[in-house]
Amino acid sequence: MHITIRQLQVFEAVARRLSYTRAAEELHLTQPAVSMQVKQLEGSVGLPLFEQMGKKIYLTQAGDVMLVHARTIMQHLASAAEEMNDLRGVDSGRLRIAIASTVNYFATQLLATFAREHPAVEIFLDVTNRESLLSRLEDNIPDLVLMGKPPVDMDLVSESFMDNPLIMIAAPDHPMVKQREITLADLAQEHFLVRESGSGTRAAMERFFSEQSFEYRKGMELTGNEAVKQGVEAGLGLAIVSAHTVEQELTLKRLVALKVQGLPIMRRWYIAHRRGKRLSVTAKAFRRFVLDTGVRDA
Ligand code: PGA
Repeated sequence: MHITIRQLQVFEAVARRLSYTRAAEELHLTQPAVSMQVKQLEGSVGLPLFEQMGKKIYLTQAGDVMLVHARTIMQHLASAAEEMNDLRGVDSGRLRIAIASTVNYFATQLLATFAREHPAVEIFLDVTNRESLLSRLEDNIPDLVLMGKPPVDMDLVSESFMDNPLIMIAAPDHPMVKQREITLADLAQEHFLVRESGSGTRAAMERFFSEQSFEYRKGMELTGNEAVKQGVEAGLGLAIVSAHTVEQELTLKRLVALKVQGLPIMRRWYIAHRRGKRLSVTAKAFRRFVLDTGVRDA
């Protein structure tokens, strides 16, 4: 059997996405190039690895077996590359970090400081909401993630490093801006702008309201913190956001934090990785750096 590593990489991507098109996008190849690599691999193996039913493709039994071996080989190659980097020391190598979108407001600052101390480290930063962050972890893509409380049903090593207070924001001309103690009952007629489903902030807000038996009136649903903030500023409704996302707007008085009983919702930020993942010296150094910086700031 003459099998190349490239063929295994392409095969693994097709098997994971169960789509030639999506694998081609991920690998920045054309779809015919992807099909060709898979065909050549099938030729070497002497068995079909995929079968087509209707519009969908499925792994054959041979495909299932091949996938296990392809992943083991790729894992070994990645470990070899990481061990070589470790031998070169902290100041080299790659760091793949995935962060929840809300973390982006302070993480870039953290990364900038780390990058200045370790200029040769190549940093890949993926910013996404909580749900897709968890699916990236599931696929073993990032070395480390920065996120809200990790779910208990995933085998992760996590440590919290900083407070994440969630506050309620309003436009500066909102009638309740001057009110001292707002109760949730006072807010029964207000519309709340919410983040897209999959957002950790939204889940925390909904948990808080339901614990307080408060049925909120849902206004517009918006993707990302910036859209929510702009919607509130435009007077479309109120919202609950992480205080980290609105520091500037509060200082510039473009938004106001309402004094609502029971708020802020006190959450924490966590740095996490999959248990059993071998962290490179660079990833370990970054983890230590985040934990030390967070503790200083808390
Ligand atoms: P998110 O933030 O709302 O951007 O997903 C993550 C979290 O609060 O868990």
